[in-house]
Amino acid sequence: MKIAIGCDHGGIVLKAAIVDLLQQRGVAVTDMGCAQGESVDYPEYGLKVARAVAQGACDKGIVLCGTGIGISIAANKVKGIRAAVCHDVFTATMCAQHNDANVLAMGGRVLDEKTALRMVEAWLDTPFEGGRHVGRLDKIRAIEDEYFR
Ligand code: RB5
Repeated sequence: MKIAIGCDHGGIVLKAAIVDLLQQRGVAVTDMGCAQGESVDYPEYGLKVARAVAQGACDKGIVLCGTGIGISIAANKVKGIRAAVCHDVFTATMCAQHNDANVLAMGGRVLDEKTALRMVEAWLDTPFEGGRHVGRLDKIRAIEDEYFR
Protein backbone atom coordinates (compact mmCIF):
# COMPACT_ATOMS: atom_id res chain seq x y z
CA MET A 1 0.00 0.00 0.00
CA LYS A 2 1.33 3.41 -1.02
CA ILE A 3 -0.23 6.63 0.23
CA ALA A 4 0.41 10.16 -1.00
CA ILE A 5 -0.08 12.90 1.58
CA GLY A 6 -0.12 16.66 1.15
CA CYS A 7 -1.22 19.72 3.04
CA ASP A 8 -1.08 23.48 3.30
CA HIS A 9 0.09 25.34 6.40
CA GLY A 10 -3.29 24.66 8.08
CA GLY A 11 -2.68 20.91 8.03
CA ILE A 12 1.04 20.71 8.69
CA VAL A 13 0.89 19.56 12.33
CA LEU A 14 -1.66 16.85 11.60
CA LYS A 15 0.30 15.70 8.55
CA ALA A 16 3.37 14.88 10.66
CA ALA A 17 1.29 12.79 13.07
CA ILE A 18 -0.41 10.94 10.21
CA VAL A 19 2.90 10.20 8.47
CA ASP A 20 4.16 8.65 11.74
CA LEU A 21 1.02 6.52 12.03
CA LEU A 22 1.26 5.32 8.42
CA GLN A 23 4.92 4.42 8.80
CA GLN A 24 4.15 2.49 12.00
CA ARG A 25 1.58 0.54 9.99
CA GLY A 26 4.18 -0.29 7.32
CA VAL A 27 2.53 1.91 4.70
CA ALA A 28 4.84 3.51 2.11
CA VAL A 29 4.24 7.28 2.33
CA THR A 30 4.97 9.83 -0.36
CA ASP A 31 4.99 13.23 1.34
CA MET A 32 4.18 15.88 -1.23
CA GLY A 33 4.63 18.82 1.18
CA CYS A 34 4.23 21.52 2.23
CA ALA A 35 7.15 21.93 4.62
CA GLN A 36 6.96 23.31 8.16
CA GLY A 37 7.09 27.11 8.23
CA GLU A 38 5.82 27.64 4.69
CA SER A 39 2.61 29.52 3.85
CA VAL A 40 1.28 27.97 0.66
CA ASP A 41 -1.79 27.68 -1.56
CA TYR A 42 -3.75 24.48 -0.91
CA PRO A 43 -4.78 23.81 -4.57
CA GLU A 44 -1.17 23.00 -5.46
CA TYR A 45 -0.96 20.29 -2.82
CA GLY A 46 -4.41 18.90 -3.52
CA LEU A 47 -3.39 18.56 -7.16
CA LYS A 48 -0.07 16.81 -6.36
CA VAL A 49 -1.79 14.17 -4.23
CA ALA A 50 -4.70 13.74 -6.65
CA ARG A 51 -2.35 13.29 -9.60
CA ALA A 52 -0.33 10.64 -7.76
CA VAL A 53 -3.52 8.68 -7.06
CA ALA A 54 -5.15 9.22 -10.46
CA GLN A 55 -1.97 8.18 -12.29
CA GLY A 56 -1.55 5.08 -10.10
CA ALA A 57 1.74 6.11 -8.48
CA CYS A 58 -0.04 5.81 -5.11
CA ASP A 59 -3.05 3.71 -4.09
CA LYS A 60 -4.75 6.38 -1.98
CA GLY A 61 -4.19 9.93 -0.80
CA ILE A 62 -4.66 12.08 2.27
CA VAL A 63 -5.03 15.85 2.01
CA LEU A 64 -5.14 18.40 4.81
CA CYS A 65 -5.78 22.10 5.02
CA GLY A 66 -7.34 24.27 7.72
CA THR A 67 -10.81 22.84 7.19
CA GLY A 68 -10.19 20.09 4.62
CA ILE A 69 -12.61 21.88 2.33
CA GLY A 70 -10.41 23.83 -0.07
CA ILE A 71 -7.91 21.06 -0.65
CA SER A 72 -10.69 18.51 -1.23
CA ILE A 73 -12.32 20.77 -3.80
CA ALA A 74 -8.99 21.01 -5.62
CA ALA A 75 -8.36 17.25 -5.47
CA ASN A 76 -11.85 16.52 -6.80
CA LYS A 77 -11.06 18.45 -9.99
CA VAL A 78 -8.86 15.54 -11.08
CA LYS A 79 -10.70 12.82 -12.98
CA GLY A 80 -11.04 9.61 -10.99
CA ILE A 81 -10.59 11.24 -7.62
CA ARG A 82 -13.22 10.80 -4.94
CA ALA A 83 -11.99 13.03 -2.12
CA ALA A 84 -14.18 13.09 0.99
CA VAL A 85 -13.98 15.71 3.71
CA CYS A 86 -14.57 13.86 6.95
CA HIS A 87 -15.05 15.07 10.51
CA ASP A 88 -15.25 11.95 12.63
CA VAL A 89 -14.74 8.19 12.58
CA PHE A 90 -18.26 7.60 11.25
CA THR A 91 -17.83 9.77 8.15
CA ALA A 92 -14.32 8.37 7.54
CA THR A 93 -15.72 4.84 7.71
CA MET A 94 -18.70 5.59 5.48
CA CYS A 95 -16.64 7.31 2.79
CA ALA A 96 -14.67 4.07 2.40
CA GLN A 97 -17.67 1.74 2.73
CA HIS A 98 -20.16 3.54 0.49
CA ASN A 99 -18.17 6.00 -1.62
CA ASP A 100 -14.88 4.11 -2.10
CA ALA A 101 -13.19 7.46 -1.41
CA ASN A 102 -9.64 7.24 -2.69
CA VAL A 103 -8.63 10.51 -0.98
CA LEU A 104 -9.38 11.38 2.64
CA ALA A 105 -9.54 15.12 3.41
CA MET A 106 -9.37 16.53 6.91
CA GLY A 107 -9.04 19.88 8.64
CA GLY A 108 -6.06 20.61 10.82
CA ARG A 109 -8.00 23.41 12.49
CA VAL A 110 -11.04 21.21 13.03
CA LEU A 111 -9.77 17.93 14.41
CA ASP A 112 -7.70 16.91 17.39
CA GLU A 113 -4.84 14.53 16.61
CA LYS A 114 -6.32 11.48 18.32
CA THR A 115 -9.57 11.73 16.36
CA ALA A 116 -7.74 12.31 13.07
CA LEU A 117 -5.54 9.24 13.56
CA ARG A 118 -8.55 7.07 14.42
CA MET A 119 -10.23 8.37 11.26
CA VAL A 120 -7.24 7.42 9.10
CA GLU A 121 -7.26 3.92 10.57
CA ALA A 122 -11.01 3.55 10.04
CA TRP A 123 -10.72 4.74 6.44
CA LEU A 124 -7.85 2.34 5.69
CA ASP A 125 -9.41 -0.64 7.46
CA THR A 126 -12.91 -0.34 5.99
CA PRO A 127 -13.48 -2.13 2.67
CA PHE A 128 -15.76 -0.79 -0.06
CA GLU A 129 -19.10 -2.54 0.29
CA GLY A 130 -19.78 -2.77 -3.44
CA GLY A 131 -23.30 -3.92 -4.31
CA ARG A 132 -25.75 -1.06 -4.79
CA HIS A 133 -22.94 1.47 -4.39
CA VAL A 134 -21.15 0.34 -7.56
CA GLY A 135 -23.90 1.74 -9.78
CA ARG A 136 -23.80 5.05 -7.90
CA LEU A 137 -20.07 5.37 -8.48
CA ASP A 138 -20.67 4.52 -12.13
CA LYS A 139 -23.05 7.49 -12.26
CA ILE A 140 -20.32 9.73 -10.83
CA ARG A 141 -17.95 8.43 -13.52
CA ALA A 142 -20.58 9.26 -16.14
CA ILE A 143 -20.67 12.85 -14.84
CA GLU A 144 -16.88 12.98 -15.14
CA ASP A 145 -17.06 11.64 -18.68
CA GLU A 146 -19.52 14.37 -19.58
CA TYR A 147 -17.79 17.31 -17.94
CA PHE A 148 -14.08 16.46 -17.66
CA ARG A 149 -11.73 16.51 -20.63
C1 RB5 B 1 -5.68 28.80 4.75
O1 RB5 B 1 -5.62 29.83 5.67
C2 RB5 B 1 -7.07 28.17 4.73
O2 RB5 B 1 -7.93 28.95 4.00
C3 RB5 B 1 -6.99 26.76 4.18
O3 RB5 B 1 -6.14 25.99 4.98
C4 RB5 B 1 -8.26 25.97 4.08
O4 RB5 B 1 -8.96 25.94 5.30
C5 RB5 B 1 -9.15 26.25 2.94
O5 RB5 B 1 -10.15 25.58 2.69
